[in-house]
Amino acid sequence: MIIAKTVEEVRDAIRQVRRQGQRIGLVPTMGALHAGHYSLMGAAKADCPFVAVSIFVNPAQFGPNEDLAKYPRTLEADLAGCREHGVSLVFTPESAAMYAPDAATSIHVARLSEHLCGASRKGHFDGVCIVVAKLFNIVLPDKAYFGAKDYQQASVIGRMVRDLDMPLEIVVCPIIREADGLAMSSRNRYLSPQERQQALALIGSLHLADKLAKAGQRESKALIGAMRQHIATAAPLGQIDYIEVMDPDSLSPTDRLDGPVVIALAVKFSSARLIDNMRIDPTRLGG
Ligand code: PAJ
Repeated sequence: MIIAKTVEEVRDAIRQVRRQGQRIGLVPTMGALHAGHYSLMGAAKADCPFVAVSIFVNPAQFGPNEDLAKYPRTLEADLAGCREHGVSLVFTPESAAMYAPDAATSIHVARLSEHLCGASRKGHFDGVCIVVAKLFNIVLPDKAYFGAKDYQQASVIGRMVRDLDMPLEIVVCPIIREADGLAMSSRNRYLSPQERQQALALIGSLHLADKLAKAGQRESKALIGAMRQHIATAAPLGQIDYIEVMDPDSLSPTDRLDGPVVIALAVKFSSARLIDNMRIDPTRLGG
């Protein structure tokens, strides 16, 4: 496994891989890797003989009062995990290797990136877009893999790739969960034992909405109301940032469930802000 710290090292390795005509899969991460990240590497490995993983805690996507300084950094364990999962190259740059001091270019995906997480994390998705675009230009992947856990992020990146004619395919992979249903996240380790228990209210409220929709409830307001009530009871330490019923492609809010929707939510605990989502298709029975 190649461990590259500079853009030049990655370019040298990629040049050879391209010469051999191998397909390249890229999995961008911020490290503190868990089974969610490894599932993306598994999906990449199934499609592409050469899998590159980036591990970079990207300062551009953190707000001034966010957790950049304390974000978990577990590089040795991450590298061992990548090796185990058959990764060919890990790109783990320092910030200075990614951003020139006078870097002046930004990428803003209007509307799609401005509500939901974009509303409470101003500039967050611009920071995600710039680093992901740079990683695409450095690694030149045929395919790049993202998790549905960060549903809005995957949509924003998909739109950027389409709008800028970036020559690669975006693959969105399912959410990986702990045994009790909590969506895996590098930030779960911030939670106190009590918060960890209450964090189950996110998936609990999504299951409740799913059940109500399957029982015939078609009003988004009613679903959101039931979810709010569930969270207020099951997670008194949590503060709801948003709950939204939305069109799976445009992410615009929908009042009624006349077809498939995605319900997304964010809940703030004192130590971590958690997000989760679920696709619900009320026209399909069962599940
Ligand atoms: P990070 O939070 O490390 O996540 C890296 C990738 O893993 C993302 O595509 C995310 O959606 C996916 N992922 C995280 N938890 C998951 C889970 N439980 N199941 C499935 N996939 C999961 O997202 C980022 O980093 C950054 O914003 C990044 C895209 C790397 C840009 O800096």
